[in-house]
Amino acid sequence: MFENLSKAPGDKILALMGEYAADARPTKIDLGVGVYKDEKGVTPVMTSVRKAEERMLSNEKTKTYLGIAGNKGFGTAVLDLVLADAVDLLRVRIAQAPGGTGSLWVLMQLINRARPGATVHVSDPTWANHIPIANSSGLKVATYPYFDTVTRGVKFDEMLAALDKLGADDIVLLHGCCHNPTGANLTDAQWDQVAASLARTGALPFIDLAYLGFGDGIEADAYGTRKILSTVPEAVIAFSGSKNFGLYRERVGAAILVARNAEEADVTNSQLLNIIRGAYSQPPDHGAEIIRTILQDAELRAEWEEELGVMRNRMISLREKLASAIRERSNSTDFDFVAGHRGMFSLLGLTADAVEHLKAGNGVYMTSDSRINVAGIPEEHVGALADAFLGAIR
Ligand code: LMR
Repeated sequence: MFENLSKAPGDKILALMGEYAADARPTKIDLGVGVYKDEKGVTPVMTSVRKAEERMLSNEKTKTYLGIAGNKGFGTAVLDLVLADAVDLLRVRIAQAPGGTGSLWVLMQLINRARPGATVHVSDPTWANHIPIANSSGLKVATYPYFDTVTRGVKFDEMLAALDKLGADDIVLLHGCCHNPTGANLTDAQWDQVAASLARTGALPFIDLAYLGFGDGIEADAYGTRKILSTVPEAVIAFSGSKNFGLYRERVGAAILVARNAEEADVTNSQLLNIIRGAYSQPPDHGAEIIRTILQDAELRAEWEEELGVMRNRMISLREKLASAIRERSNSTDFDFVAGHRGMFSLLGLTADAVEHLKAGNGVYMTSDSRINVAGIPEEHVGALADAFLGAIR
C-alpha cells in the first residue's frame, strides 16, 4: 500500500522545537516557535483562562454535540471582538475551527470550491504553513512584494502596484496584524489604500488574524481587518485564539466569511459546513467555551485584556532592550528596526550560515530565515544575545 510514498518535507518551525528540546546546553535560548514566554521562560496559562475553566468545570452539564459550526456563543463573541460594527452581520457567518490553521484550511477548501485552482497571492515572505495549506486545497500560490530586506519595513509602493494588477478571480492573503515572519506591518493609511485597491480590483481579501492584541492593542490591531470589511463586498478571515488567549494546544479558532448579501452568505456557509462535516465533523469545544466565558463576562474580559496588555508590553520592551543592547555594542542603528516592528516576530535578515552558527556555537535557536520570536529573548542575558548576533554577522 505505502511503497510508492516518498518522505514528506518536515515543518521547519516545529522541527526546531525538537532540536531545541534535545540541546543539553543550559545557556540555550529559544527564539523559534511562536509561543509567548514570560520572564521565567514559561508559557503560562492566563489567570482569566484558569478562572473560566474553573467555572466551566462546575457549570458544565453535558458533553453532547454542539453542531458543525461549534460553540454559538463563542461565534457571537468572536465576531464582536474582531468586527465590532464594521459590517452588517446579516452578511457574515462564522464557524468555530481547530486553531488558526484549521480555520485557514477550511477557508482554502471553500475558496477552491468557489474558484477551483484559483491563485492565492501571499506576501513575500509569509508564514511557512500558508503555502502548503493553499496547495493541498488545490489552489495555486503566487507572491506579492512585501518585505524590504534593506529597510526591514514594508515595500508598500511595490506591494500596492502588485495588488492593483489583480482581478476578481484572485485571492489576497493578508496578515491582519503582527506580520509573521517579518514583524513589519502596514500603517492605517496603508490599510486604507489596500482596502481601496481590493474594492477596485474585486480580488478577495483573505485575512489571517492570528495575533490580535499582540501588536499595539486590540482596537489598533483590528484596524486593517475592519477597514477592509467596511470597504469590500466579500472577504474571509481566519481567526486564532492560540496566542492572545494562550490556548495553543486547545486548538481554537474561527473561519469567518462575509458575503454580498444574506442569501449568498447562507449558500456559502452551507458549503463551509459541508467541508467541516466531511473533514472532522465538528470542532472540539473546550477552548471555544473558555473564550466565550471570558468575552461574555465583564470581569473576566477586563482581566484577560489586562493580561494581554502585559504580554504585549513585555514584547515591546524586549524589542527595545535588544535593539539598544546591539546599538550600544556596535555603535550603529542597523538593528533599530527590531524596536519598530510589532507582534511576536522580527525577521533579522541574517544569512543561513549565520543562523546555523548561532545555533551550533551559541545555542541560539531561530528559524532558518532568521525569524526571531521576541518573547523568547531572555531579559537578563540580552547583552549576551546581542554579542552573539554581532559575532554571527561579522
Ligand atoms: C509560528 O509561526 O511559529 C506559530 O504560528 C506556530 C506554528 O504553528 O507555526
